[in-house]
Amino acid sequence: MVGLHEPPIPFQELRVEPFKETADVHGFDCGNKELNDFLTTEEVANYEKEMLGTTYLVYWIQGGILVAYFTIASQSLSIEYLRKVKGFSIPPEIRLKDIPGMLIGRLGVDINYKRRTIGSHILRYIAGLALGTSAATRILFLEAYPESVPFYEAFKFRIIEHQKLKHSRNRLMYYDLKNHPEKE
Ligand SMILES: CC(C)(COP(=O)(O)OP(=O)(O)OC[C@H]1O[C@@H](n2cnc3c(N)ncnc32)[C@H](O)[C@@H]1OP(=O)(O)O)[C@@H](O)C(=O)NCCC(=O)NCCS
Repeated sequence: MVGLHEPPIPFQELRVEPFKETADVHGFDCGNKELNDFLTTEEVANYEKEMLGTTYLVYWIQGGILVAYFTIASQSLSIEYLRKVKGFSIPPEIRLKDIPGMLIGRLGVDINYKRRTIGSHILRYIAGLALGTSAATRILFLEAYPESVPFYEAFKFRIIEHQKLKHSRNRLMYYDLKNHPEKE
């Protein structure tokens, strides 16, 4: 069985493809019903049609297995929240209400392929996409389920205290692309 203690899968063995309605996504299971339902119902196609989220499918080239997916969107985050975070700095003379960012709306790795570095490869890939866009993008951010907080922390995402999520289990987290090692 492919499982938790299998060796890491190198990034070169993954193929990232934009979602297509013809893709076979049935049976994808990342262990989270909300994330599974998004991909395996019409929701994903609706997000594409309404231009609210772009979904990518990640295949392991050995056998062409769908091992993960993620959905991203351009979205800004109020500077008010970021100013409270120690370590995030914007010169005071810059007057901006919002920080331009990329929202990781969804990210799921198939239950049989977790802890094999696929999630980390995807975060690096998304950072590359964000840095490669012609529109300035300073941060990656997302609402993390409590159980996935350690995964994002391992990638140096940090928690933002956010009034909106005060009564939610989820945590708002961000990653500062200004500190990304592959930024030239
Ligand atoms: C969270 C998720 C995307 C991580 O993907 P992954 O491919 O398993 O992660 P990686 O193998 O790249 O893990 C990198 C590091 O993150 C940390 N990490 C990952 N999963 C973790 C867990 N469940 N508990 C604690 N730390 C974890 C570890 O430090 C890990 O390194 P290690 O395996 O050498 O200890 C995946 O578990 C998943 O799909 N979960 C269900 C859906 C979900 O929660 N998605 C996030 C939406 S907010």
